[in-house]
Amino acid sequence: GDAERLTRFDACIDADGRIEPRDWMPEAYRKTLLRQISQHAHSEVVGMLPEGNWISRAPSLKRKAILLAKVQDEGGHGLYLYSAAETLGTSRDQMVEALHAGKAKYSSIFNYPTLTWADVGVIGWLVDGAAIMNQVPICRCSYGPYARAMIRICKEESFHQRQGFESLMTLMAGTPAQREMVQDAVNRWWWPVLAMFGPPDADSPNSAQGMRWGIKRISNDDLRQKFIDATVPQAKVLGVTLPDPDLKWNEARGHHDYGAIDWDDFWNVVSGNGPCNKERLATRVKAHEDGAWVREAALAHARKQQQRTLK
Ligand code: ACO
Repeated sequence: GDAERLTRFDACIDADGRIEPRDWMPEAYRKTLLRQISQHAHSEVVGMLPEGNWISRAPSLKRKAILLAKVQDEGGHGLYLYSAAETLGTSRDQMVEALHAGKAKYSSIFNYPTLTWADVGVIGWLVDGAAIMNQVPICRCSYGPYARAMIRICKEESFHQRQGFESLMTLMAGTPAQREMVQDAVNRWWWPVLAMFGPPDADSPNSAQGMRWGIKRISNDDLRQKFIDATVPQAKVLGVTLPDPDLKWNEARGHHDYGAIDWDDFWNVVSGNGPCNKERLATRVKAHEDGAWVREAALAHARKQQQRTLK
């Protein structure tokens, strides 16, 4: 019966085992995973837009080739993640529909504008750097398909982070105007990047259960702290200032202290009122509609192939 299956499920989680698509799982576990993996998939796909904006304006052939590869990787990440979510019983069409109807969440960070070329470097360095910090522990997630998808995604994210940092190093070795452009981008992205990790642990409704189930391995606040501690020395190497007067090393804690995050701004963005939410959603819906003929042609082709093999 169900009690026995639940006991077996709990034992598997306690032993740090993996749950696979055909295994029995509590409905709430399935729902939480679907929620997180579909939000994650949507983030990858919407995340193509802020940088996609710069593909036609990249300053050299080399930078354009790197940026094209990176933006394509994000599209690929979305596909692995939609596939992982589909193993939980919801179709990709349903998930995409929820996104387009404004019912599904995606990461707050992709609702900010990319005003200059330096933003592309800062997204690689800070946004993808934060994404790696959050995603490496998910390689050990209790749900097999999600954990396995995350391994390849993290390898690719690591390339994205490095290309961003390298691009910023190049700009910082340039003219005073280029250095100012980098500092301005860092000033605009720093605080929204810290909010990416999600609300403080005390205000995070999904954390306790997510940790119990081995979906989340490290808490929102602990990941945020790890990210800040890792980023401060990188900022020094680059020669930029992180825009937080309260940011300083705390010897007793063995961590950096940092200033207060504006959570009202975060919730405002999450609830659809950030600077680019409407534009991002409209662009996604249009891309989907413009691509309808490709999906129809692929289906027609598949049907023809099938008829041929039946003959
Ligand atoms: N942007 C938008 N919504 C967020 C964000 C964010 N940065 N952080 C938290 N939220 C939402 C949660 O989705 C949740 O909403 P819901 O209950 O309606 O689904 C609510 O705020 C409360 O947050 P938590 O209880 O802390 O939620 P959770 O335990 O799911 O933790 C987190 C949030 C850390 C983002 C987790 O879902 C996660 O690790 N997801 C996978 C990673 C991911 O999605 N990365 C995408 C950005 S990185 C990239 O794509 C390059």
